[in-house]
Amino acid sequence: MIILRTIPELRTFVHDWQGQGLRIGLVPTMGYLHAGHLSLIDHVRPRCDRLIVSIFVNPTQFAPGEDLDRYPRNIERDEQAVAAHGTDAIFYPDAPEMYPEGFRTFTIVEGLGDVLCGRTRPTHFRGVTTVVSKLFNLTRCQVAAFGQKDYQQSLIIRRMAADLNYDVDVLVCSTVREEDGLAMSSRNSYLSPEERERAVCLYRALTKGQKLFSLGERSAAKIRQEMKRTIQATPGVSIDYLEAVDAYNLQPLEKIDRPAVLAGAVYVGATRLIDNVIIEP
Ligand code: PAF
Repeated sequence: MIILRTIPELRTFVHDWQGQGLRIGLVPTMGYLHAGHLSLIDHVRPRCDRLIVSIFVNPTQFAPGEDLDRYPRNIERDEQAVAAHGTDAIFYPDAPEMYPEGFRTFTIVEGLGDVLCGRTRPTHFRGVTTVVSKLFNLTRCQVAAFGQKDYQQSLIIRRMAADLNYDVDVLVCSTVREEDGLAMSSRNSYLSPEERERAVCLYRALTKGQKLFSLGERSAAKIRQEMKRTIQATPGVSIDYLEAVDAYNLQPLEKIDRPAVLAGAVYVGATRLIDNVIIEP
């Protein structure tokens, strides 16, 4: 496995692989990898000839005051983990490599990024789409995978890939969970043992909503109310949002009469966690 730190190095390998007619796969990550990331690699591996995992804590998707500086990092452990899953190359640039002096161009998907997480993090998705479009351009990947835990992100990236005519199959893979149901996330490492126990209330709330729906409840307000009760019963956890939204345009629903997503973001202490479940009438 090769570690590529610069864009010229990456391009040399990409051009060589393209010249041989090889299909390139990409798993974009911010590192501190867990089983969720490894499942993305396992999804892409059989669908390509050469697999690149990018590890880049992307500054443009963090607002001032967010956790950019303390975002967890462990490149040695990440290298071992991805090598064991058949990765050909890690692309591990630093920030000036991706955003040199004078950088001014952003990729923005209108509409989908200003709801749900976009309300609390208004500049987040333009950072995500900018870095992902750069990674698509640089790696010339034909297949790439993202996790369903970041449902809004994956929908926005699919929209971007379609709108900008990227010839990339964007795979969205199921959320990988801890035994008690907590969605795996690099940010779970911020939680104290007590917070870790409490954090599962988000998944419990979402599955409660899912259960109500399966029992015939179609009022989004009633489902939201029940989800809210579950979170409010957990000390030290506060709600950023809990919503029932249309699965394709992310607009809030009153009546759940079409494919929908129950999505939530909560603060467990100072740590913001997100999760979602898909429901289909
Ligand atoms: O989901 C993530 O880890 C990041 O948002 C991504 C897609 C790697 C872009 O920085």
